[in-house]
Amino acid sequence: MNLSDLTFDREGLAAAIACEDAAFEEALLDEAYRVKVATVGPEVYLRGLIEISNRCVKNCLYCGIRRDIRCQRYELSEEEVLASARIAAQRRFGSVVIQGGERTDAAFVGKITRLLKAIKAIDTGDDPPLGVTLSLGEQPREVYQEWFDAGAHRYLLRIESSNPDLYRKIHPADPLHSYDRRLQALYDLKEIGYQAGTGAMIGMPFQTADDMARDLLFYKEFDAPMVGMGPYNPHPESPLTLSGAPYPSAERRFALGLKMIALLRLLMPDINIAAATALEVLDPRGREKGILAGANVFMPNITPEEQMVKYNLYDRKTILRDCPASAEPGRQDTHICKNCVFPFCSMGDDLAGKRIIVGYGKWGDSKHFRK
Ligand code: 5AD
Ligand code: SF4
Repeated sequence: MNLSDLTFDREGLAAAIACEDAAFEEALLDEAYRVKVATVGPEVYLRGLIEISNRCVKNCLYCGIRRDIRCQRYELSEEEVLASARIAAQRRFGSVVIQGGERTDAAFVGKITRLLKAIKAIDTGDDPPLGVTLSLGEQPREVYQEWFDAGAHRYLLRIESSNPDLYRKIHPADPLHSYDRRLQALYDLKEIGYQAGTGAMIGMPFQTADDMARDLLFYKEFDAPMVGMGPYNPHPESPLTLSGAPYPSAERRFALGLKMIALLRLLMPDINIAAATALEVLDPRGREKGILAGANVFMPNITPEEQMVKYNLYDRKTILRDCPASAEPGRQDTHICKNCVFPFCSMGDDLAGKRIIVGYGKWGDSKHFRK
């Protein structure tokens, strides 16, 4: 397949996704990078990722912190979350993402509301107050509203798969895991005024090239201002893994992850696209490669190290190099030290000729949303 043959209907996208020709894939990534720079510019925006808790009421079949998995549970205290947010402010990340398992109990909802107000009050010097994205699953509309009023302005809720049949295969068959409910939640977020981001996993069992093409068209149809999608990574104890259902090799899932970013950048040139953490599990420079494939958002993980190891959606030891301890000058095994030249400094020749600028101290809202 040649780049000039690419069309953006369902068949054309599926053909591009299925095509494993290395020359085509390389040309596609280069084109996506070019379009990104031409449209949203070379800047990469940062979001300090704070994984607040691995407690979850849900039981998604692919997930390593699902309700029925036995693992050590944790919940960051308000002070721990604020300490992480202050690291983000000091390092001029501009924004934080608070992500965690789904919980709808009043104690949790109230804690998030208080945290939002406290994070908004953190001193950021000459920069605007920290932007806050939430990623805390499906909530009643009133809760979304309460959090919006308390200062959250972006919310990430992946559709996981835009094909309702596939959605049903990867979730338990009960009202808590309803595709329609998920879709409703996304529209609630949008109506309230959030920048509502979504996304899906890439390279799952049962997932076809046509499913992935549908995902891309779903983002367009939903008019998503931001998308965070990443490769599926099997967790050794999840029901989906234990079922023995086949899925693409690690190499293929990584290539698909980059390709989906590139195709989406061509389909929706002015949105924010995150280089997902899941890329990093498959390649030690996975997120940087995501940036070079057209992504423009990078989420350094600033969860305290001793808790981060417990947020095992899937096996992801490599992410530990992001830890806040990397604030220590001179620590060489991390992404975010190296004299604070973040974080692309070690890519060397790969970056030759490519200008990457970090948007320090900015919210980095998508151009698409601002329009
Ligand atoms: N592989 C990749 N991503 C996963 N997630 C959960 N489990 C996995 C997995 N095994 C993703 C889901 C969810 C996000 C918090 O983590 O897409 O939305
Ligand atoms: Fe909970 Fe999210 Fe894991 Fe589903 S994917 S079990 S909602 S943490």
